[in-house]
Amino acid sequence: MLTTAANEILTRTGPSTPMGNLMREYWIPACLSSELKADGEPMRLILLGEQLIAFRDTDGRIGIMEHRCPHRCASLFFGRNEEGGLRCVYHGWKFDVEGNCLDMPNVPAAQDFKARIKAKAYKVVERAGFVWTYMGKREKPPELPALEVLNLPAAELQIRVHQRECNWFQSLEGDIDTSHFGFLHVGTLEMEDVDPGNIHKWSAGDRAPDYKSIETDWGTMYAAYRPAEPGTFYYRFAHFMFPFITLTPNGRFDDQVACTMNVPMDDTHTMVYNLAWKKKTPALTKLKNGDWIPGIEPKADYLPNTNDWIGRHRLVARRENDYFIDRDMQKNRNYTGIQGIGRQDQAAVECMGEIVDRSLEHLAPSDRMIAITRKRLLEACQKLMNEKVAPPLVDNQSACRGARGGAFLAPTEMDWLDAYARELQSALGLLDRMPMAAE
Ligand code: FES
Ligand SMILES: [Fe+2]
Repeated sequence: MLTTAANEILTRTGPSTPMGNLMREYWIPACLSSELKADGEPMRLILLGEQLIAFRDTDGRIGIMEHRCPHRCASLFFGRNEEGGLRCVYHGWKFDVEGNCLDMPNVPAAQDFKARIKAKAYKVVERAGFVWTYMGKREKPPELPALEVLNLPAAELQIRVHQRECNWFQSLEGDIDTSHFGFLHVGTLEMEDVDPGNIHKWSAGDRAPDYKSIETDWGTMYAAYRPAEPGTFYYRFAHFMFPFITLTPNGRFDDQVACTMNVPMDDTHTMVYNLAWKKKTPALTKLKNGDWIPGIEPKADYLPNTNDWIGRHRLVARRENDYFIDRDMQKNRNYTGIQGIGRQDQAAVECMGEIVDRSLEHLAPSDRMIAITRKRLLEACQKLMNEKVAPPLVDNQSACRGARGGAFLAPTEMDWLDAYARELQSALGLLDRMPMAAE
């Protein structure tokens, strides 16, 4: 459980809020690069509660700026994207991607004051298929995240995106809650149903594992572990990484190059980006006969995008239709009656309400990771607010290299952190032999 005051700090990300200030210390994935075309339509973009306009100019450069025109606040969404800038349709003022006013055509030349006008525009870079923006106060922004998945060649990187109609932090808490996997996703699975060579079979044989957790340079880390082959534990390692990144355990540790980013649009809408190396070994999804585990086959149909602030990447299965729950399927085939692993997660985190009231909870030992992650985030907010201490990774992105999610077996007598260090060393060795994308 959490006090209402602490819950407010964790969940509110608008300008001048403690968590909003913390997030503005980092580069934020604003949208996909493919969503903006040169001289194409300006796009409404809501990020950390700020209503912005994103556009790509004639030369391919991207602007992300306050949506209200600095003249008299007409929305630049209606602007004309033409010849190197966005022109407000109310009185014709034109702005480049940095917010400079290029033209003030309704003012006589002698009275022109465009040199003194600047639209509020954020710094932008493109990398790994994303448009990143820096919304903070530093003159020189920090480095981009040094995650290995962001260095993959474009052809080997898979990006999936969907919106959740709930607060960013309850969406993220679903990623650091491996306990739910054996219920929500594979609740009817028996160990005998899984290929004997698949190490994840152990998760189907024991749904109440023990846990270890620890604070790290990049955030927090935990492992669920249960007995496996004689003399071994089956470990599932996962991470929270500042400010909104998770590395989940649903794959084999040695090739699990992946992450999830839960980006707050506003406090009740979250854009979830799943990134993964296309060549990584699949997670536990199939029975030993090759069929999908009942209910787990991905099913992601999208509503058509609209021009609304929250009109992008919304799933058809949603709160209003109870995610198409099928009670007959729930009785006879799978645990939830909901088809698709993503839909199951979506239902679980959205059905708590837009911002869950954490004063109502009763946390269990399986929630230890959630508890230490809340504490770590709250402490980082306090330190930034009271002592102006930059939060983790902002000035040390290389620490990202220490984080990897995934599952492996290790001897029972080996310390859990020693086992992690051993696996990480050999996994990073594998990655260093991979072709990396050019910067
Ligand atoms: S409001 Fe934009 S030019 Fe006047
Ligand atoms: Fe899940």
